[in-house]
Amino acid sequence: MEPTQLQYLKEMGIDVWVGRDTPPLNVDVPGVESITEGEQVAPMPIASSSELEALRQTVSVCKKCSLHETRTQTVFGVGNPNADWLVIGEAPGAEEDRQGEPFVGRAGQLLNAMLVAIGLSREQVFIANILKCRPPNNRDPKPDEVVACSSYLKQQIELIQPKIILAVGRIAAQNLLRVDTPIGKMRGKRYTYPDSELPVLVTYHPAYLLRSPREKRKVWEDLKMAMQTFKEIT
Ligand code: URA
Repeated sequence: MEPTQLQYLKEMGIDVWVGRDTPPLNVDVPGVESITEGEQVAPMPIASSSELEALRQTVSVCKKCSLHETRTQTVFGVGNPNADWLVIGEAPGAEEDRQGEPFVGRAGQLLNAMLVAIGLSREQVFIANILKCRPPNNRDPKPDEVVACSSYLKQQIELIQPKIILAVGRIAAQNLLRVDTPIGKMRGKRYTYPDSELPVLVTYHPAYLLRSPREKRKVWEDLKMAMQTFKEIT
């Protein structure tokens, strides 16, 4: 196992025992090279696909719901426009609203750690949210806001054509899959994105993990299952 991966697993609260004679335990992901210590992964240009860029422009001036009145800017998403992995969260928070990029706060740091733990970098995946605008005071998205924003996420999925979706948190999972099942019951199952065969795996939100670090082990199980699913379908 690469030192960086080990370090991130530790951050995730996962103890890994590597004996002197133990062969390397690299998480083997087809088509994905794990990151080695000190290696810089060049950030992917945001949306090299012109259609995704056009959608970003459309979203940037959206006034479909009242959240446009309170946002600093829209938060479209970040990462590889041809990503195999699409990570979907809830909505921008204060820092994301300020920087225009999803998951840049403390929860974002932990999300990065979760990705690295399974051999993925933030730049390899695409990260987006159910809502593209920050709800004031980080309240839960309202149903009309989710409906107003849903076509943007749908178009992102159509353009990026990911092979797998990882939904982080209850709001992302329930809205994406159009169910009201408690998140604890959604973990450990393989869903598909409505009207498609695109697998959707569900795990806890990193912000929840910051409040409940004991749950990190469950997230590690979820991430391993997601990786196993990815291997099976590719
Ligand atoms: N939480 C989310 O769900 N999304 C973000 O972009 C930031 C925090």
